[in-house]
Amino acid sequence: MKGAIFFSGKYGSTEQYAKWIGEATGLPIFDIKDAGADPSKYDFLILGSSVLYYKLTIRKWARANLSKLNGRSKILFSVSGAGPSDKLERWVAASFPSQLLTQMEHVALHGRLDHSKLSWWLRKILWMGSLFNPDPQAKKEERGGFDYMDKSSIEPILKIIGQFQYSGHNT
Ligand SMILES: Cc1cc2nc3c(=O)[nH]c(=O)nc-3n(C[C@H](O)[C@H](O)[C@H](O)COP(=O)(O)O)c2cc1C
Repeated sequence: MKGAIFFSGKYGSTEQYAKWIGEATGLPIFDIKDAGADPSKYDFLILGSSVLYYKLTIRKWARANLSKLNGRSKILFSVSGAGPSDKLERWVAASFPSQLLTQMEHVALHGRLDHSKLSWWLRKILWMGSLFNPDPQAKKEERGGFDYMDKSSIEPILKIIGQFQYSGHNT
């Protein structure tokens, strides 16, 4: 069974998780912006996506490649400021056709927000958004940034990849 990692990120944290998974498994890694990122060449897929403005950034690519994603074993890892939660599951559900969602396991990873990498107007937008955020911790993080990057959090993904590889071995 051949597998590959396809990721979509903007500020580097999703790419970092993709690299950690690639290092641990030897699977090739593709940025979805690469012209050669073709999921139809693989038996199982690890899809990684950051969450910006309550949506998965991989959503348009996933819709455009729906026929190639259908029927292949898949994991989705999301990288976000919100930790695993009902609201995160709702954002994920709203980003993907339900048919695709039912075919894959979702693992929620916690990312990083470095304000020094953002433009002044984006910092302003986040600050304004924080005014309406009822969660005090999330409010603080929107204003000041956060870093929850954690290599050990990829373990559940490595476990599922191991199952994909093992099941392929026996067929
Ligand atoms: C403009 C902007 C919007 C964001 N929107 C959300 C959001 O709606 N929900 C959330 O949980 N995190 C949000 N985040 C936090 C990102 O998901 C987090 O920083 C993630 O690690 C970014 O991934 P990347 O470095 O691969 O781009 C946002 C961050 C930025 C900069």
